Amino acid sequence: MPNLKNNITDLFGIQYPIIQGGMVWVSGGKLAGAVSKAGGLGLVGAGSMKPDLLAEHIKKAQQITDKPVGVNVPLLYKYCEEQINTALDLGIKIFFTSAGSPKKYTSFLKDKGCKVVHVTSSPELALKCEAAGVDAVVAEGFEAGGHNGRDEITTMTLIPQVVDALSIPVIAAGGIGDGRAIAAAIALGASGVQLGSRFAATQESSAHDNFKQAIVNATSGSTMLSMKKLVPVRLLKNKFWEEITVMEENCTDPAKIQEHLGKGRAKAGMLEGDMNEGELEIGQISGLIKNIPTVEECMKDLVAGYNQAIERLNRKLF
Ligand SMILES: Cc1cc2nc3c(=O)[nH]c(=O)nc-3n(C[C@H](O)[C@H](O)[C@H](O)COP(=O)(O)O)c2cc1C
Repeated sequence: MPNLKNNITDLFGIQYPIIQGGMVWVSGGKLAGAVSKAGGLGLVGAGSMKPDLLAEHIKKAQQITDKPVGVNVPLLYKYCEEQINTALDLGIKIFFTSAGSPKKYTSFLKDKGCKVVHVTSSPELALKCEAAGVDAVVAEGFEAGGHNGRDEITTMTLIPQVVDALSIPVIAAGGIGDGRAIAAAIALGASGVQLGSRFAATQESSAHDNFKQAIVNATSGSTMLSMKKLVPVRLLKNKFWEEITVMEENCTDPAKIQEHLGKGRAKAGMLEGDMNEGELEIGQISGLIKNIPTVEECMKDLVAGYNQAIERLNRKLF
């Protein structure tokens, strides 16, 4: 990748500024290890793991590669402190925190010599991350799969605003599925990119085959930001999505929506492959994803696509 040795590759000690986002039920050690091995930065998604399972996945990633691997810790789950301590005990030095206050663990982790990145969906929150002392932020737009901000700020509008507001590096996320989009994010001022949906549909992801196939079958309008009265999350439309959408349209009490959501829907959908009753988190870019490559193939495509995009720009063949 020409000219892509930058502050993000230096910060993490990696080859390409391409990060595989933490994903509940999808990004285990196999995926994270493969991404790091291929020159990006793989993140084990701690959100869906009790500390002992997280330890297994970190060890699996470390068996696959001796390159840096990170951990994503969403701060809304009850085990987050134990997850952080488990990862520290296993030598993890890169933490991506999300879904909570950046103040909660940043100083603690920085004091232990770790690199800390927090995920944000607005320039205002990004400034709070910078004030909390993080090394970089992930600025994640409305297109992204998984939990998201309420304000529906798209990646195209979010990235330049966050870049202008901050003096630390910005990692763009949301709607990035190929090398053209990486070039676009860099053009907007980002130093790196975080991809979720693209890596969910790879051989090494722990998503169920039914879910991977549903990603490949998705078209441009197959997802929607849903459950805005609870915790906004972008979902693939299915029977469960229709039910909660009807409830939201009918102004159902959020407590009732929560009750219908219940427990275990995300696991049932994404890990166990229940395409009707499960909760299927995926981004708008699923409409572009048409294959289930290995991580190595995927990374090669991303890098080649980036190079082609830059070449096109240089020749002004838009
Ligand atoms: C299945 C799925 C699960 C996700 N789970 C998490 C999570 O546990 N923690 C987190 O910070 N982000 C989570 N995300 C967001 C990703 O880390 C990433 O930022 C996002 O997918 C980027 O947008 P994209 O899907 O358009 O590539 C998830 C995304 C997906 C698709």
